[in-house]
Amino acid sequence: MKTLTMLAALCALVPTLWASAAQAQFAKPEDAVKYRQSALTLISSHFGRMQPVMKGQVPYDAAAIKANVEVLKTLSALPWAGFVADTEKGTAAKPEIWSDAAGFKAAQAKFEGAIDKLSVASNSGNLDQVRVAFGEVGASCKACHDAYKLKK
Ligand code: HEC
Repeated sequence: MKTLTMLAALCALVPTLWASAAQAQFAKPEDAVKYRQSALTLISSHFGRMQPVMKGQVPYDAAAIKANVEVLKTLSALPWAGFVADTEKGTAAKPEIWSDAAGFKAAQAKFEGAIDKLSVASNSGNLDQVRVAFGEVGASCKACHDAYKLKK
């Protein structure tokens, strides 16, 4: 009987532990800011390095582009966990990220969808297709920045 009571108490505790573990992903608010900005810096690096190929200034190496897009795809899911509430001060994050959370989430989904398309295109090895998908990703960065990032 005693064991059962303890088990019940444990079961009641587990969801609480889970919830606090999710919140405690970052020890300090600055850590969340650093995390999201670092992820966005990496995204920008891996996105930007494809530009010379898209512009035809550098020959298209399908395998290299494919490998880079795979990295980009992994990175594209990362920044969003770092947008913890009340962390906009001193950053380029607009308050709308939190006041219009659904819109911000939709902008992420649009971006990740565009990255998925870029991934499919890079697997095809067809540069024209890659170029179109690359443009769509760029447009999704801009759309989110226009709505949710301060110009500084
Ligand atoms: C869903 C919204 C969203 C998408 C999509 C998005 N960004 Fe951003 N980005 C932001 C916000 C918001 C900030 C400001 C973050 C801050 O200051 O803490 C930011 C910041 C940045 C920064 C500055 C990072 C730093 O060190 O402060 C770069 C660079 C950047 N984004 C590039 C990109 C590129 C390139 C893409 C597309 C390939 C992209 N972003 C897609 C919302 C987005």
